[in-house]
Amino acid sequence: MPRIRVRLDALRDRSYTVEIRPGILAEVPLLLSRAEGKRRVFVITDSNVTRLYGSEFASRLAAAGCEVALLEVPAGERSKSSPTLNGLYTRLFRGGVRRDSLVIALGGGVIGDLAGYLAATVLRGVRLVQVPTTLLAQVDSSVGGKVGIDHPAGKNLIGAFHQPSAVYIDPEALLTLPEDEFRNGLAEVVKIAAARDAPFFANIERNAPRIRRENTALNAKIVETAVALKASVVEKDERETGLRRVLNLGHTIGHALESSGGFALKHGQAIAIGMAAEARIARELGLLPPPACLRLTGLLEALRLPVDPPGTINERAFMSAIALDKKSDVTGTRFVLLRRIGECAPGVPVPADLIRKTMGLVSRKSKHG
Ligand code: NAD
Ligand code: GLY
Repeated sequence: MPRIRVRLDALRDRSYTVEIRPGILAEVPLLLSRAEGKRRVFVITDSNVTRLYGSEFASRLAAAGCEVALLEVPAGERSKSSPTLNGLYTRLFRGGVRRDSLVIALGGGVIGDLAGYLAATVLRGVRLVQVPTTLLAQVDSSVGGKVGIDHPAGKNLIGAFHQPSAVYIDPEALLTLPEDEFRNGLAEVVKIAAARDAPFFANIERNAPRIRRENTALNAKIVETAVALKASVVEKDERETGLRRVLNLGHTIGHALESSGGFALKHGQAIAIGMAAEARIARELGLLPPPACLRLTGLLEALRLPVDPPGTINERAFMSAIALDKKSDVTGTRFVLLRRIGECAPGVPVPADLIRKTMGLVSRKSKHG
């Protein structure tokens, strides 16, 4: 039988640059019109970001010669949904989207994931530029190409890998971020440091009292280190077949808390609680020395992030969400657990009863044997 090989990796270079500079937001329209040419541009943003930056951003793009549509969705996790996505497809078709059009995600992680998935799927894929405006999106979600939406069955269950062609990060955009949202982003900073870089973790511990929205110079450095760490992981394992799993530290429990609680908890808060709980699980399994567990929870608390499970968890919904985690395989749910600060063990099986105990849940099953 004839055998034909379909070679893909060499087809085109999908490398891209992440530019991090205070004040760059005002320059992005001109930079983009130069880099991308005067193509049709759809700027996807949310109701808060439109007011703060979106309208001016779109006007600057138009002034730079682009044909621009500014498309706004309600702020919040509920927009990462199929109805909102469908509404955006309609607006793109009405707006004359073509294969050479460009989608720009201007906003936080919700917008990055939603607009990214829109770009990945409309007309089988158009180019995407990420312009993240929350700390969480700047240090994590805008880089690496994971895009997607939630499903009533769970968080991020529908998605794709669609790398941006560029990422522009303005640490000054954090000046307008509500304090809680700034703290949420710090949860992902702690995650990447704990998972990959002990000296960075120690640096955050030392700087914790100085980490504030207003400290643009320090924030720029934190963003730069976090992005470099993330890029180094994504370069080695874009499709999360191995190493990239470490970026899910705290996320198995975090995602289950988010979706089982109807998204009342913000992503960053859920990840902070998830990291603390998963550290306790690692300690119980004899994987993580108790002092390292204390260091992790201590840093989260110093950054004013929550570490305790919420008082009310819908056990059934929570345990089903755990079972649906994307790291599950035929053998069950696998956790990424810390071995020490800066190093993780991916793919650790965790007994359901230990998960329940750690989260303060006592199930009927465990009560009756
Ligand atoms: P978000 O996008 O909802 O933004 C938080 C809030 O901040 C929103 O109300 C938004 O309107 C507002 N906002 C955004 N920029 C602002 C600014 N500069 N000034 C004032 N307000 C501003 O939430 P998020 O925390 O940025 O992102 C969370 C999402 O990211 C979750 O859905 C999570 O699943 C996803 N995520 C994705 C990845 C990935 O790799 N794709 C990684 C981590 C998280
Ligand atoms: N935020 C996890 C990842 O990008 O893999």
